[in-house]
Amino acid sequence: MRNCHSKTITKAVFPIAGLGTRFLPVTKASPKEMLPIVDKPLIQYAVEEAYAAGIRQMIFVTGRTKRAIEDHFDAAHELESMLEYEQKQQLLDSVRNVTPDDMHCVYVRQASALGLGHAILCAEKIVGDDDFAVILADDLMMGETPVMQQMIDQYQQQQGSIVAVQDVPRSQTNLYGIVSGNESQGALLKINQIVEKPLPSDAPGTLAVVGRYILSASIFDELKKQQPGIHGEIQLTDGIASLLKKEDVFSYRFNGRRYDCGSKIGYLQAVVDLASCHPEVGESFNHWLANKVESPCTEVFKQKQVN
Ligand code: G1P
Repeated sequence: MRNCHSKTITKAVFPIAGLGTRFLPVTKASPKEMLPIVDKPLIQYAVEEAYAAGIRQMIFVTGRTKRAIEDHFDAAHELESMLEYEQKQQLLDSVRNVTPDDMHCVYVRQASALGLGHAILCAEKIVGDDDFAVILADDLMMGETPVMQQMIDQYQQQQGSIVAVQDVPRSQTNLYGIVSGNESQGALLKINQIVEKPLPSDAPGTLAVVGRYILSASIFDELKKQQPGIHGEIQLTDGIASLLKKEDVFSYRFNGRRYDCGSKIGYLQAVVDLASCHPEVGESFNHWLANKVESPCTEVFKQKQVN
């Protein structure tokens, strides 16, 4: 068993091989992680959160139809030359800032969609023996201190695996990994049980795992032992359940707001909230929105949305 905790987290794994069926047809040929929140794709928010927390190696576990993500984090020489020539400095900076010079992107392929646990296992060779972060780009997290930074701060005190959690209505436990425990210190709880998507009647509580994890590299050995769980997939939650028999695993109630951008309603809420604060369009958007609230749905659009 590997048991050496390093003090800092330098690597983040982004599982991005999922099919995004909830957003079809827009995700038929393009990745759900490229859905824009005003002018930045979801995946960029996730990568920026990791970067802001000092992480420099970004490991993408990718699959078919995800090429746009590799292109997004690659240099775009032709575009940059054109913006330079036209002296559009602000746009040029926005393009260059996608991939700072000291950020390193690695891509590994998950050939079959065998589940989140399997996706993490695909990154084993690149992660090696270091503790590492996992970020699910679907969960857009906004905190005064970036949520991954909050988790690394906790990790530096606690040196154990940590999963971010929030309270959810009991009726929704079947959508999440659910944790329970009894030794809590502030926002941290030492987990003694974690279950993937339990029915409300079977759930050990209502604290739900959201898409941020710091994991000990020992998780890989646990994932290798897992049989397919709920939905016939190798579940990360099941790997964590066996990890916590050997090592401490904590849950952390983060400070901030989570948008479930894997659902249409959460995605739309994120777009509206971030558009409201956008430096370029925020003011005029808010003005438009205030009037819009008076007459929410225009008849002609209603008809167009019906297929
Ligand atoms: C995944 C995890 C689940 C977690 C959730 C957070 O589920 O399996 O434990 O609570 O992400 O968003 P998914 O939403 O991919 O079905």
